[in-house]
Amino acid sequence: MTLLSVQGLSKNYGVLQAADAVGFELADREALAIIGPNGAGKSTCFNMIGGQIQPDAGTVQFNGRDITGLPARNLFRAGIGRTFQIASVFRSMTVGEAVQTAMMSRDRVSLSIFRPARSYALDQAHALLNDVGLMSLADIPCQQLAYGDLKRVELALALVNRPALLLMDEPTAGMAAGERLAMMALVRETARNRGIGILFTEHDMDVVFGHADRIVVMNRGKVIAMDTPDRIRADKTVQAIYLGEET
Ligand SMILES: Nc1ncnc2c1ncn2[C@@H]1O[C@H](COP(=O)(O)OP(=O)(O)OP(=O)(O)O)[C@@H](O)[C@H]1O
Ligand SMILES: [Mg+2]
Repeated sequence: MTLLSVQGLSKNYGVLQAADAVGFELADREALAIIGPNGAGKSTCFNMIGGQIQPDAGTVQFNGRDITGLPARNLFRAGIGRTFQIASVFRSMTVGEAVQTAMMSRDRVSLSIFRPARSYALDQAHALLNDVGLMSLADIPCQQLAYGDLKRVELALALVNRPALLLMDEPTAGMAAGERLAMMALVRETARNRGIGILFTEHDMDVVFGHADRIVVMNRGKVIAMDTPDRIRADKTVQAIYLGEET
C-alpha cells in the first residue's frame, strides 16, 4: 500500500526552480532516500511535505488523504513525525524525563506536583528507551550526553507520537563516519519493528546504499532517477552527476 504520494511538487524562488514537478511514492514501511548534490532541492521537498513551506504547485497525499500545504502540527497529528534538534526545554531534563514529558504532551496531560513527569507512563517510556538503546542513560541529563546519544534522544522523541511516517533530513549530520552507519541501522530496525515508513536525505553514500529500500535522485530541482540501490549505483546519469560535482 502507498503511504505517501507526491505529485508535481514545485517551488520557485524568483528565477530559481528549487523543486520542479517532483513526484514519487513511498510504500508502507518503506525506507526511501532522496539524494543529490548540494542545492538539488532535497530540503525544499522535505519542507513542503512536512508543512514548513507552501508548495507553488503539486499535491501530497498521506494514507490516501490530501495533506498538501497543511501546517506541521496537523501533519504531526495525522501521523507524520520528524526529528528535530533537541529543544532547549529538554536539555536540563534527564533522558527519561524528556521522553516522559513528550509523552505527557502527546497525551495532553499537564505537569503538576501530583503527577511529576518522573512517574508518568514509565513502562512505555522504558520500552521506547530500550528500543533506541538508551535505557542505560535514562538518568543522565540530556545536556551531558555525547552528540551521537543526543541524536538517539531526538529519534526517541520523534517516536513518542507513534508516527506512521518519519521525515529525516540528514539524520546523521555531524556524526563521525562509524557512528552514522550505526545510527541509521538503529533507525531502520526501530522503524521495522514499529511498522514506520522513512523518508530521509543523506550525504553519506554508505548510509544511503546500506539502508534505503529505494533511492530518489534529484538534481537542480528535478527527479532524475528513482530505483533500487543496485540500479541507482549502475545508473550512468547518476554517476555523471556525482562525478561532475567532484571535478
Ligand atoms: N528560502 C529560500 N530562498 C531562496 N532560495 C532558496 C531558499 N531555500 C532554498 N533555496 C535555494 O533552493 C535550492 C535548493 O535548496 P535545498 O536546500 O532544497 O537543497 P538541498 O538539496 O537540501 O541541498 P543540501 O544538500 O545542501 O542540503 C538552493 O539553490 C537554495 O539556495
Ligand atoms: Mg538540504
